[in-house]
Amino acid sequence: MKTINRRNFIKASAFAGAGLTLAPGLALRCTGQNSSKPVLLGGRKPSYSFSKWPIFDQTEEQALLEVLNSSHWGRLSGTVTKKFEEEYAKINGTAHALAVSSGTSALFTMLGALDVGPGDEVVLPVYTFVATYNVVGLNYALPILVDTNIETFQIDTKKMEQAITPQTKLLMPVHIGGAPADLDAVMEIGKKHNLPVIEDACQAHLAEWKGQKVGSFGLGGAFSFQASKNLNCAEGGAITSNDQEFIERCYIFHNQGQGGRGASYGTGSGTRGTNLRLTEFQAAILLAQMTRLEEQMQVRSANGDYLTELFNEIPGITPAKEHEGTTRNAYHLYMFRFDSAHFDGLTRDEFIKALRAEGVPCSTGYGQMNSSEYVRGLAENKHYLKVYGEKTMKEWLERNHCPQNDKLTKDQAVWFTQPMLLGDRSDMDKIAEAVRRIQKHATELKG
Ligand SMILES: Cc1ncc(COP(=O)(O)O)c(C=O)c1O
Repeated sequence: MKTINRRNFIKASAFAGAGLTLAPGLALRCTGQNSSKPVLLGGRKPSYSFSKWPIFDQTEEQALLEVLNSSHWGRLSGTVTKKFEEEYAKINGTAHALAVSSGTSALFTMLGALDVGPGDEVVLPVYTFVATYNVVGLNYALPILVDTNIETFQIDTKKMEQAITPQTKLLMPVHIGGAPADLDAVMEIGKKHNLPVIEDACQAHLAEWKGQKVGSFGLGGAFSFQASKNLNCAEGGAITSNDQEFIERCYIFHNQGQGGRGASYGTGSGTRGTNLRLTEFQAAILLAQMTRLEEQMQVRSANGDYLTELFNEIPGITPAKEHEGTTRNAYHLYMFRFDSAHFDGLTRDEFIKALRAEGVPCSTGYGQMNSSEYVRGLAENKHYLKVYGEKTMKEWLERNHCPQNDKLTKDQAVWFTQPMLLGDRSDMDKIAEAVRRIQKHATELKG
């Protein structure tokens, strides 16, 4: 169910290839040379046209200067953040958007607005950035980590439903890598159990499920504009929602518990809250970055889909599958599985070392969050023991067992990052060629 076809691809690639509208960061640096041996065995290192990140020009410079000269640097007196919120809601097809200081703040604000606290359980995937977990812990609620669908890298929705108990307060799926989780299943489970869904869409700007933007399905969606993200203002975030009352509560929470929009500071409104406001400078950068978002999205999409075609022909390399219903993958990450058996026993670490030597930046991605000292330590945290008791915390450790995620993260998963998909189509050919070279010479590269 892809919206991008081959004609779109050529159009999108032409933007990048010609360095036209995508401007400074996308200029080509392609030599097109390859040698038949891997670099680690003396072959010549190819060059690529991977994009620099962030991409910006005078648009950002001027937008920042305008805010500077206006003397309205904060949202309480300025107009830029409000304008950004209107535009962001529009491109996401939601009735409302609230700008906040980070993706973490977006999640934290929504949990605050839902009054999540000690004794509550929040269901989330184990395969996510630690922020999704942290916001639950900050509220002294119990994070219930759900195993991963090894084929899609997304939350296993069957296990998600099994994780629900009478204490469950909300479901918090993540659209990891920028591809949607199985939203039909998630929303159905939420409805069946009468639980709100908060989508962690921090990596999934403009991704779509059945033609509808992610972040518009649940009660609220969280987006991150941290420096590495597809939409970036160094640090920032947004909440999207179609529920006016909920977004009002979020506004109040992120504004020290102070009344509705435009209200002045006072002595509190009787609601919990903190300061998680975005500045006008960040909003100005976001509006400027948004002028390129759609085009960049198309280039990533075309390159990501093309790379998948190439990888599908290499035994032992399996790109993350998209759930049926995905009409747009934001490709914040390009994720795939490596099978050592097809590389003559070369380990994933050896594969990564060889691929990096070829000039292809890559990593293993997330590990086993449930087994980390930090997460397991929660079972001994004095506050948690006081609220939940020893028995519950012991059982909690057992509940967080995630065997499929262990398998995926221990020796299979490999990631590329989004700027790599902003280059030329020939980069994708070169990446696939590098993988093939490594495969062909795997025996010599071992050990
Ligand atoms: C899945 C996920 N959730 C939450 C966050 C937190 O966003 P931020 O870094 O803007 O606080 C991130 C950021 O990397 C993320 O990837």
